[in-house]
Amino acid sequence: VIEAKAIHVAAGDVGYDVLIAPGLIGEVGERLRPVTSARRVAIVSDTNVDELFGVAVATRLVSAGFDVLPMAFAPGEVSKSWAVAGELLEGFAKVGLGREDLVVALGGGVVGDLAGFAAATYLRGIEFAQVPTTLLAQVDSSVGGKTGVDLRAGKNLAGAFKQPVIVIADTDVVSSLSPSEWASGSAEIAKSAVIESEEFTAWLEVESTLLAARDSRTVTEAVQRSVAFKAAVVSTDEKEAGERECLNYGHTFGHALESVAGYGAIPHGVAVAEGMRFAARLAAQVAGASRDFVRRQDGILDRLDLPAMTSSFSASRLLDAMHADKKARRGTVRFVLATEPGAWGCQPVADDVIAEHLDAWSASKKETR
Ligand SMILES: NC(=O)c1ccc[n+]([C@@H]2O[C@H](COP(=O)([O-])OP(=O)(O)OC[C@H]3O[C@@H](n4cnc5c(N)ncnc54)[C@H](O)[C@@H]3O)[C@@H](O)[C@H]2O)c1
Repeated sequence: VIEAKAIHVAAGDVGYDVLIAPGLIGEVGERLRPVTSARRVAIVSDTNVDELFGVAVATRLVSAGFDVLPMAFAPGEVSKSWAVAGELLEGFAKVGLGREDLVVALGGGVVGDLAGFAAATYLRGIEFAQVPTTLLAQVDSSVGGKTGVDLRAGKNLAGAFKQPVIVIADTDVVSSLSPSEWASGSAEIAKSAVIESEEFTAWLEVESTLLAARDSRTVTEAVQRSVAFKAAVVSTDEKEAGERECLNYGHTFGHALESVAGYGAIPHGVAVAEGMRFAARLAAQVAGASRDFVRRQDGILDRLDLPAMTSSFSASRLLDAMHADKKARRGTVRFVLATEPGAWGCQPVADDVIAEHLDAWSASKKETR
């Protein structure tokens, strides 16, 4: 039996554990058995992940006495749709998945959001477990219970809160990720460190080079630390009233960049990292963050292979995109601003102040698109 770190998330009816260790996929059956009375398990995946880990997971579940129903859809955000959710639900119904059965999400954030949404709606809700296979899914999307699909009008516009019965994160599986997928996870780790504490930030300052090199021990500890952070946040604020807002650090500007560039043109991690750089500079001006904090955060992002962007986009389009984001309340754009590691607040920032910073940001870049 692998020695896995278990982090409890106090959300939903009884809460659940996130298990984190290298090699855990080999024990997925034994790990699932104690937390469910299900007999049948629908394994939802995308075709990439299914190819990599589908057989290993199915075999382990069968050994543990489950009947398995594998289902895989095309990879990518395009599949996080109402149509694919419908196909999953029809698939569950066709094989007669019952109220006491369970859905396993085997994959990245797309699979987790989609499978979780299907599990939340099928028969008004059946059990659900997560086996996240991307760094982003391990450190972020598999924890907290948000599930859903995109609509034509925007990302994540339909969804449900659905807490899993367990999350099983095997930190070996992420070694095969593409550089841009790795960057998405790394940026969320950096965000977690800066928002959580001086201690996590100081750890990451030392370990960032090893993390970028995908050193197994470092990856495992980074996932454990990030999950502990997110678990603490969602345990106190399950439905995003206050505390959970801190998870948007770097995302106000990051989402605007992604939207202005056209979704998919800038990797999510690069956009979030650039958003963190922007937020730190804004915080230096409006909230009293020190130059030293800006420099330390830059150093971490640089060593994580999340370099500052070299091109910029029109300030007015970026500002418009921030206003269009569903998180801009009552017409004022809100930023999560950290003044030092572990010290953050969420504050509205006036358009003229944002515009001034966008101009400075543009001026620091070589080219404008
Ligand atoms: N629910 C939440 O709280 C939450 C939080 C953050 C993000 N998200 C959502 O997560 C999604 C992004 O997740 P993602 O970045 O994991 O994307 P993803 O699920 O699309 O995975 C990215 C790519 O990596 C491939 N892949 C997965 N595991 C792999 C592995 N081990 N080796 C090699 N390739 C692998 C996938 O097939 C896919 O092509 C977005 O839709 C976003 O909205 C949700």
